[in-house]
Amino acid sequence: MRTLYNMKLSVTLFSGLMVGLLQVKSQTIIPIETKHNALVLQVDAKANIAMVYYGPKLAAQSDYINIVSSYKQGSEYTGVVDAAYTASGSRNLMEPAITVTHADGNNSLDLLFVSHAVKKESDNIAITSIVLKDPVYNLKTILYYKIYYNEDVIEQWSEIKNNEKGNVTLQKFASANLYLRGNSFYLTQYHGDWAKEMQPEESKITHGIKTLDTKLGTRANLFQPSVFMVSMDKPATETEGTVLYGTLAYSGNFRTDLELDYLDNLRIISGINNYVSAYTLKPNEVFTTPAFLTTLSSSGKGTASRNLQSWARNYRLLDGKGTRLTLLNNWEATYFDFDENKLFGLLKDTKKLGVDLFLLDDGWFANKYPRNGDVAGLGDWAENKKKLPNGIASLVKEAENNEVKFGIWIEPEMVNPKSELYEKHPDWVVKQPKREEFYFRNQLVLDLANPKVQDFVFGVVDDLFKQNPNLAYIKWDCNAVIYNAHSVYLKNQSHFYIEYVRGLYQVLERIRKKYPTVPMMLCSGGGGRVDYAALQYFTEFWPSDNTDPLERIFMQWEYSYFYPAISSSNHVTDWGKQPIKFRTDVAMMGKLGFDIVVSHLSPNDLKFCQDAIKTYNEFKPVIWQGDQYRLSNPRESSVASMVYISEDKKTGIAFNYLVNNRYGEGSKLPIKFHGLDASKKYKISELNVYPGTKSSIDAAKVYNGDFLMKIGFNPDINQYRTSVVLKIEAL
Ligand code: DGJ
Repeated sequence: MRTLYNMKLSVTLFSGLMVGLLQVKSQTIIPIETKHNALVLQVDAKANIAMVYYGPKLAAQSDYINIVSSYKQGSEYTGVVDAAYTASGSRNLMEPAITVTHADGNNSLDLLFVSHAVKKESDNIAITSIVLKDPVYNLKTILYYKIYYNEDVIEQWSEIKNNEKGNVTLQKFASANLYLRGNSFYLTQYHGDWAKEMQPEESKITHGIKTLDTKLGTRANLFQPSVFMVSMDKPATETEGTVLYGTLAYSGNFRTDLELDYLDNLRIISGINNYVSAYTLKPNEVFTTPAFLTTLSSSGKGTASRNLQSWARNYRLLDGKGTRLTLLNNWEATYFDFDENKLFGLLKDTKKLGVDLFLLDDGWFANKYPRNGDVAGLGDWAENKKKLPNGIASLVKEAENNEVKFGIWIEPEMVNPKSELYEKHPDWVVKQPKREEFYFRNQLVLDLANPKVQDFVFGVVDDLFKQNPNLAYIKWDCNAVIYNAHSVYLKNQSHFYIEYVRGLYQVLERIRKKYPTVPMMLCSGGGGRVDYAALQYFTEFWPSDNTDPLERIFMQWEYSYFYPAISSSNHVTDWGKQPIKFRTDVAMMGKLGFDIVVSHLSPNDLKFCQDAIKTYNEFKPVIWQGDQYRLSNPRESSVASMVYISEDKKTGIAFNYLVNNRYGEGSKLPIKFHGLDASKKYKISELNVYPGTKSSIDAAKVYNGDFLMKIGFNPDINQYRTSVVLKIEAL
C-alpha cells in the first residue's frame, strides 16, 4: 500500500485546458484532464509511476491524491501493479507493456520516472510527455498523452530509445498501458469475415487475459478489428453508464490485452502485435509506437461515439470537414465484363441518375494477362487495349462531356502470379523462398518493406494522375492477407510486418504530399482495413461488400460507434430483397453511392432515385457534420431508428426501418428523440416518399422538442411502410 503525505499544490493553468503537476512530499500527481475526464498518473517516493485513475474528473485536483488509498483490494507485492507502462523481467508479475533484451543479453527492465513536461499545441490540444529510465541500463522510454480537450479523446503512444552501446531487442513494445479500477468490466468486441464485418459480442471480463489481435499483416481487420468498448460496473446503454472506447491507429498486426488481475482491476495494454516481430534497435535509435486512442463517457455509448466522430472529423479523417462525391460504381453492374462503349453508356447513366462521379472498378488493366477475372493481371497497371483502346483519357473526357467526374479502382499493393510484374520482379513478392506459394483470392502481396516497391506503388497512383490530371477519385483496394511472410529485401525477417506498414504509410505520405485532397476510398474487400491511421490518408472507407440493406442497418450501426457517417461509403446495389426505396434510404445514412444497372430501373424506381439524390444533396451537411443519435437498436427492437441533428438543432433527418418481418411488427410505440432543443417547436414530414404513394405523416402538426424527447414520435413503420425517412425542422 502506498503511503500518503500532505501535499503542496502547484498547477499550471491555461485557457481551456488544465494540465499540471501536483507535488506531494515524495508523491507527484500528474492529472491529464479533458473537458469531462481525467487520466491521473502518480509517482511515488521511489519513482515508480502508476496510472491511478481514468474517469470523470474531480472538482478539486487535490483530491486525486486520495484515490489509491480509497481502494482496499488486497496486497500489492511489487509496487508496479498499476504501472503507467509495465516493464518486465524485474519486479513485475503481470502482462508487460514492454519487454526487452539488452545489449548484454539481459532480459530485465525497470522503468522509473525521470521528468514530465506539458506542451500546449492549441486551445484544445496539449501533449504531456513522461520520461522514464531504467536505473541500471541506458534505456529510455517516453510516454505521450495527447489530449483533445473538447472531444474527451486521449491519444497515447511511446518512444523507446536505446542509449546502450550495442543493439537492444524489443520483444514487446506497446503503445499504451491503462489501469482501471472498478467493480466489474464488460467488453464489447467485434469479429467478422468477408461480408460479415463488425459483429458485436459483449461479455463480462473474467480473470486472466483476453486478447484482441490480428496476425494477418494486410487486410488486418478481416477477422477482428482493433475497436472495442469497456463498460464499467454494468453494460453501458446508449444514454447511461460509464464506457471507454479504445482502438489502435494502425493498419497492420495489432494486439490488445485486457487483463483482469488478482486485485480485480483491469489492465489494458495495446500496441503493434509482437507476434514474430522482435525488433532490433541499434544504439541511439528510437522506436515510436503507433497511437492508441481512447474516449471515455459517463453518459453512455452515444456521447462516446459523438465525441469520437467529431474528433475524427476535426483532426483525423482526411478532409473530415469537407465535401464528398456521390457516385455510380460499375463493379456489380458489370464485374470484369465491359468495354469502352459499355462504359460510355454508364457515364450517361451517371448523369441521368444525378450523382457526381462515375467510378470504374476492377478489370480495366493488363494486356499480356488481361484482367478478365481475379486470376490474372494484378500488377500490370496499363489500360487493357481491347477493352479500352483509347485509354482512361477517353473515359475522363467522356465523363466531362456528360458533366460528371471520373474515378478509378486500383489495388497497387498486390500481384497475381499470372502477371508481367511477377515475371519481372519475383523478388518484390512476399513469399517464402523454399515453400510453395499460397494464395488469397489468387494473389500475393508486394513487399512494401522494399523502397523500390514503394516507388512502384507510388508510381501507380502518380502515373494515373500525371496521365489524367482530371481524375477525381481513387478506390484503393486490398484483398489479400499475408501468407508466408518473408521479404527478400530485409536482412532481419522479424522486422517484416512492421516495415510493411511503414512502407505503406511512406507511400501514402508521398501521395498526399503531391495530391493532398483528391478523395480516396479505403477498401479491403470490404472493411478489412479501416483504422484511424489509414484514415489520415483516406476520405472514406468501404464497410463491407455486403450491401444487403438489412445487413447494412446492423453493420452501419456498429461502425457508427467509432467512425463518422461522412467516412462510410454506402452503396445501393441489388443485394437483398428490399425495394429500391429501402436500399436507398439505408445508403443515405453515410456517403451515398450506387452500384446498379440504371437502365434496369423501372421509371418509378429511377424517379425515386433521382429525387432521393436531390434530397440527399440537401441533407448531406447534416448527415456528414451533424450529431448522430441512435434511437432504437435493431438488435433490441423490431424497428431500427437513427437521427442526425445539426449543431444548431434546427434541422434533422431520421431513418427508421422494420427489421423483423413477423406478423404485426412495426413501430408500436413512439420513438423518443435525442439531441433536439426542448424549448424549440418542430415540424416533422416524410422524405423519400416513393412515387405514387402518400405519406401517413401529418406534416402540418407542430411538436415541442420537449414532447419529442419525452414522449417521442411514431414514424408509422409497418409491413407496408418498412422504411421511413423523416425531416425534422425547427419553426
Ligand atoms: C473487392 C471490393 O470490396 C469490391 O467492391 C470490388 O472492388 C472488388 N474487390 C474488385 O475486385
